[in-house]
Amino acid sequence: MRTQVAIIGAGPAGLLLGQLLHRQGIDTVILERRSADYVLSRIRAGVLESGTVRLLAEAGVDARLRAEGLVHEGFAIGSANRRLRIDLKALTGQTVTVYGQTEVTRDLMEARAKAGLVTVYEAEDVALHDFDGSSPRVSWVQDGVRHDLACDVIAGCDGYHGVSRASVPAGAIQTYERAYPFGWLGVLADVLPCSEELIYASHERGFALCSMRSHTRSRYYVQCAADEDVLAWSDQRFWDELRRRLDPEAAAAVVTGPSIEKSVAPLRSFVAEPLRFGRLLLAGDAAHIVPPTGAKGLNLAASDVHYMSEALVAFFASGRDRDLDDYSTRALARIWKSERFSWWMTTLLHVFPGTNPFDRRMQGADFDYLESSAAARTSLAENYIGLPY
Ligand code: APR
Ligand code: PHB
Repeated sequence: MRTQVAIIGAGPAGLLLGQLLHRQGIDTVILERRSADYVLSRIRAGVLESGTVRLLAEAGVDARLRAEGLVHEGFAIGSANRRLRIDLKALTGQTVTVYGQTEVTRDLMEARAKAGLVTVYEAEDVALHDFDGSSPRVSWVQDGVRHDLACDVIAGCDGYHGVSRASVPAGAIQTYERAYPFGWLGVLADVLPCSEELIYASHERGFALCSMRSHTRSRYYVQCAADEDVLAWSDQRFWDELRRRLDPEAAAAVVTGPSIEKSVAPLRSFVAEPLRFGRLLLAGDAAHIVPPTGAKGLNLAASDVHYMSEALVAFFASGRDRDLDDYSTRALARIWKSERFSWWMTTLLHVFPGTNPFDRRMQGADFDYLESSAAARTSLAENYIGLPY
């Protein structure tokens, strides 16, 4: 088999890259370790920056997003029974769209299948070869048979635990990481959201987030221990804890019901540098991880893919390797600013175990500053809607 770009991973990054390249006449094959159903079963975030919406439109997969996505003009952050609305529309002229990552992935999968493009699901033991030369290739095992795929470029879109970044020689890559001393316990339930907009609540018991997937499906989170046992949380225990952490109006508006998904996710900040190794390019969670507080994970994968697709179109038009040179620099410039915002919002809103009273006063001062300064709210708003590509 041969293709122009071998994409490892059929998550949002890999699928969006495949779709953008297809629309530029560039051939791709995606190799995915899991089944399509498994990929779709993963519950992830649900807030799209306007840049991501534009990119999905460019990829030709925005029809359902425009029909079903919820356009939000603001969100609230709360602390000590006060709630401050961040008016994104007034402060930046832009909005965000609430639309689950699962739905983005589904739309991309359907578009790829409709175009007749090759996605190999349940590809085992994927291995990358010779990407330091001009004839890279990828191999994998399926039904006990090893297959080979020759290509011009490998796009590593296989997430934090993928094989792509792990295939780079240790001396050629620098990583930066911060693991947070807590996690998020998330619940998905077919109940009416407690508020029309998202509420990020800081409470002495811990952070809580009120989000949604539609007008009838809610997504809630409470800060928990990094190693929290999800089985120790009945639905009732979750609803009670959530309401303790919300202001009285929001708490009273919470509609409870049976959870359809409940899970604990750790929080981590992580960046690998650089993002290009010869003919191997990394994008999305394979390149970086952000704590979900700023809703940047999917949106950063989108901007990585934007830069990568531009570099690949130039490369295949010219045949010059140097057209791949700028990808890493351009992507990392935006990645680090999103990492900073995600770290800042996480630090603002969470209770850090063992924190000293000074740190809690710093959080209170940050809220006071946001309440009293349009400049502070504008800074928060422009990062939340997404910095320019
Ligand atoms: N071989 C093939 N596929 C692999 C391998 C491997 N060795 N390892 C992982 N994969 C697949 C995973 O099964 C997954 O489907 O790569 C895909 C990576 O997808 P994501 O982890 O969703 O990463 P990405 O596409 O970069 O999207 C980032 O997803 O996890 C969220 O919070 C994250 O919102 C962000 C978004
Ligand atoms: C979600 O709806 O899952 C969500 C929304 C906003 C965030 C994180 C997660 O910041």
